[in-house]
Amino acid sequence: MGTRIRQFLVIICIKFSIVSAQNSDHAKLQVLRRTWKNTPPTWNDGSDPCGGSWDGITCTNGRVTEINLVNMQLRGNLPDDIGQFTELQILDLSNNIGLTGSLNSQIGNLRKLTNLYLVGCGFTGPIPGTIGYLENLIFLSLNLNGFTGPIPASIGNLTNLEWLDLNGNNLTGSIPVSNETTPGLDMLTKAQHFHLGDNQLSGDIPPTLFNSNMTLIHLLLENNKLTGTIPSTLVLVTSLKVVRLDRNSLRGHVPSNINNLINLQNMFMYNNQLSGPIPNLTGMSVLNYIDLSNNAFDQSEVIPPWFSTLQALRTIKMHKTKLGGQLPAALFRIPQLQIVNLSNNRIIDPLNISSNPSTQLQLVDLGNNQIGDFNQRSEYSTSIGLILAGNPICKESGVTETFCSSTTKSSTPYSTPRNKCVTASCDSGLVLSPNCQCARPYTGSFFFKAPFFSSLENLTIYSSLHDSLMEFFQNAGLPVSSVSLTNPTRNVDDYLQIKLEVFPCGEPIFNRTEILRLELAFTKSSFKPPEEFYIYYFIPETYNFFPSTKHKSLNTGIIVGLAVVCCVLVVLLVLAGMYSFCRKEAAERAPEQSQPFALWDPTSGSGDVPQLKGARSFTFEELQKYTNSFSEINNIGKGGYGMVYKGCLPNGQLIAIKRAQRGSAQGGLEFKTEIELLSRVHHKNVVGLIGFCFDQGEQMLVYEYIVNGTLKDSLSGRSGIRLDWMRRIKIALGTARGLQYLHDHADPPIIHRDVKTNNILLDERLVAKVADFGLSKPLSYTDMTPVTTQVKGTMGYVDPEYYMTQQLTEKSDTYSFGVVMLEIITARNPIEKDRYIVRVVKEVMDKNKELYDLHEVLDPAIGLSSHLKGLERFVDLALSCVEELGNQRPTMSEVVKELESIMELVGRNLVESSSALASYEGASKDYNYPYSNDSLFTYSECSSSTKLHPK
Ligand SMILES: *[C@@H]1O[C@H](CO)[C@@H](O)[C@H](O)[C@H]1NC(C)=O
Ligand SMILES: *[C@@H]1O[C@H](CO)[C@@H](O)[C@H](O)[C@H]1NC(C)=O
Ligand SMILES: *[C@@H]1O[C@H](CO)[C@@H](O)[C@H](O)[C@H]1NC(C)=O
Ligand SMILES: *[C@@H]1O[C@H](CO)[C@@H](O)[C@H](O)[C@H]1NC(C)=O
Ligand SMILES: *[C@@H]1O[C@H](CO)[C@@H](O)[C@H](O)[C@H]1NC(C)=O
Repeated sequence: MGTRIRQFLVIICIKFSIVSAQNSDHAKLQVLRRTWKNTPPTWNDGSDPCGGSWDGITCTNGRVTEINLVNMQLRGNLPDDIGQFTELQILDLSNNIGLTGSLNSQIGNLRKLTNLYLVGCGFTGPIPGTIGYLENLIFLSLNLNGFTGPIPASIGNLTNLEWLDLNGNNLTGSIPVSNETTPGLDMLTKAQHFHLGDNQLSGDIPPTLFNSNMTLIHLLLENNKLTGTIPSTLVLVTSLKVVRLDRNSLRGHVPSNINNLINLQNMFMYNNQLSGPIPNLTGMSVLNYIDLSNNAFDQSEVIPPWFSTLQALRTIKMHKTKLGGQLPAALFRIPQLQIVNLSNNRIIDPLNISSNPSTQLQLVDLGNNQIGDFNQRSEYSTSIGLILAGNPICKESGVTETFCSSTTKSSTPYSTPRNKCVTASCDSGLVLSPNCQCARPYTGSFFFKAPFFSSLENLTIYSSLHDSLMEFFQNAGLPVSSVSLTNPTRNVDDYLQIKLEVFPCGEPIFNRTEILRLELAFTKSSFKPPEEFYIYYFIPETYNFFPSTKHKSLNTGIIVGLAVVCCVLVVLLVLAGMYSFCRKEAAERAPEQSQPFALWDPTSGSGDVPQLKGARSFTFEELQKYTNSFSEINNIGKGGYGMVYKGCLPNGQLIAIKRAQRGSAQGGLEFKTEIELLSRVHHKNVVGLIGFCFDQGEQMLVYEYIVNGTLKDSLSGRSGIRLDWMRRIKIALGTARGLQYLHDHADPPIIHRDVKTNNILLDERLVAKVADFGLSKPLSYTDMTPVTTQVKGTMGYVDPEYYMTQQLTEKSDTYSFGVVMLEIITARNPIEKDRYIVRVVKEVMDKNKELYDLHEVLDPAIGLSSHLKGLERFVDLALSCVEELGNQRPTMSEVVKELESIMELVGRNLVESSSALASYEGASKDYNYPYSNDSLFTYSECSSSTKLHPK
């Protein structure tokens, strides 16, 4: 006991000393709280700011080290006291447009600061020169404010700076460089980013700004008032990848050795008064975007030879550059070329677009040139978006060619494809996510400053951005179920703008902590998009934390009534709590009697129960959280076993939870046997068990969620997914493989006993997955003789032999599968208007006629009858499966072989006939035949999380 007391006293002492240190920062935080409107609600509960409960505040040893308050509608000034957080390392107040006034010179006291982000606030006035004292600063982002005055030369003292972003202010004066007495930006040799665009900077670009010790990647000076020539010292900075000098008043020659910048990827020099020859870019082998438009170059008689040799080019814009001569056909063969704008030049005949132009070409604008003839008219002009308006060829009277109009086809704007959702409407304030959950997304817009590509139609680009976002959220452990990208456009700065929506997982609304983490992912650029997108900034919209408004306000009478009911409920709840507590106690005391799992520690993985392969145990609270308290909206079905709920794990994976009704729960031992069995089943065509819950009297099975619903939904047309013949064969084959696995490879073997189209699910690529083992029974190991059981199953699918004899064999599954096959070609229910599908098909069928004369019973949606190669064999197989006697039916492995052979026949036929463009495996990602676009690019988290996040 003596040691206890001593420990206690020591702890008290430590606490006390911490509290006294805290007090100083505590008082300063209170100043911030009073100065600013709309600080987070957690700041008002009187708790210790360093205790971890204040949103946005991080402390180390009782001192504030981080203040992250992004996009919170904060209003007010930055108080002088900010300078007293002397341990502060990160200050991020971005996207609070209500933060106004000037930046106090006190900011120079934050000597430990490494990251200062004040992006998109309302600050005005000059940037204080004291910022030069922040010698540990690595990131300095003051972009998108209203700062005026010159760039302080003292920034040159920040020798650790890697990122300098002053874009989008009203800064004036010239770019500071060092001399004997003053520092300048040329001293920032660690800097990779100079983003100084969209200001009013004037004067020449100083030649001493550049030296060979620099490591700049991005030099962005666009849209200023810079004059003079482009200094030839620029080429000393060979690390440069992006140079934007567009929309200034630069004159003179482009440095003749500019092609020494061999790492340059994007070069923007449009809208200046550059003169002299068009620069020689030979050797810039990674250049993919060049825009030299609207300059005063000397008239050229020939197209520069580098035009067709730069194999990385995607965009060439040299509109109004006095370019003359013939275009080389090789230009159009550059493999990734997308956009060519050479309008308002002097290009002459012949125009020869090569025999195999880049497949990505979308726009070739040669308007207002001197082209008088074009003899490849029909071949290319529409597919490559050719414009020849204003050329002699279009001035002949009576021309009607489409290329003579000055606009090209407009395309529908891109948006992330969605699943077909059964529920189509949500409560007000909530939005349907791409994977069919009602939730409130976090939204905002990306602005990519220099993307490699110029086409807005390149779908794979967006899906790679999408995937990298999902991957990022998963690795960060953020509860995101899906993201949606919409409406890419180019804004006036030639930035690519894309709207983003991020949907929460589990709860329908993000909480403040989660939103803060999302915001920080983007302001701090910790999210790294695929390389093609390059640097960006992100402007979030205000997030509404309030619950959705489902119920109208109630009148007082009801409220009084409710209050009474509530009191009663509280009492009941207390009683229930006591009861369950007592029960728990009892259970703990006598685990063997009541619960076979009670002894078993799910984390230890040891002990005698249960033997699970890969399945995990969930607590009731966890599943409650993942399903939004088993809410109505997450209820996706009802079976004999109980309700089925959709949920979402914290890593974003969607799950389907089967929750046993209280009455229908099995005994603990049976449940254990079942999960042991299910956890051993792993096959591409069988729905996988993720885990289970055996807690608080609940029995739940947690499966992977299969996005496209049941085969029945698709056959009936409810899901909106069109199944053509090839796809149907593939689904039949997948199902057969799943059943074959259960019969021949599961250990012990499993007879499904309830094969039907409602138990066959389709994933995002329409791969069939056999589901629902509620009725599954293993064959006993000892004797493989038929198992005698009470008959279970679904009317219309049940094997008549089993029904009569109660002898269950694998052939009973074969029978049900035969019925499923007939359903697959007819889309009729097994029993419809008192007629049994097997009999209907047999009656109509005439083996001597084409397609066995089955036209009248076939599903019209299956496609043209001329494409139904192999249908006869498929019907033969189905009918052999529904033979009266089990021993006359094929085994599932024989069924698989025959279906494979039918599929091969159909596949070959498809390849021979020109209609078959894609492989029937659906392997080609760009190609969306034969099922609709929507399911191809369904981003099910489950499938996109395999790659590791690139560091
Ligand atoms: C910048 O550095 C110089 C010399 O290294 C020093 O004299 C000057 O005070 C510094 N200025 C600021 C604002 O940090
Ligand atoms: C810059 O100043 C001009 C007038 O001088 C003003 O119209 C404009 O809104 C200012 N821009 C910003 C970003 O503050
Ligand atoms: C150095 O530059 C500063 C600011 O541009 C200027 O005021 C000063 O006169 C310069 N000093 C010398 C010695 O050139
Ligand atoms: C580059 O750095 C080296 C070593 O730090 C230095 O001696 C040299 O003067 C620097 N060169 C330039 C151009 O600044
Ligand atoms: C362009 O530059 C390359 C490589 O530096 C050189 O070989 C070529 O002669 C130059 N072409 C012209 C027209 O100056």
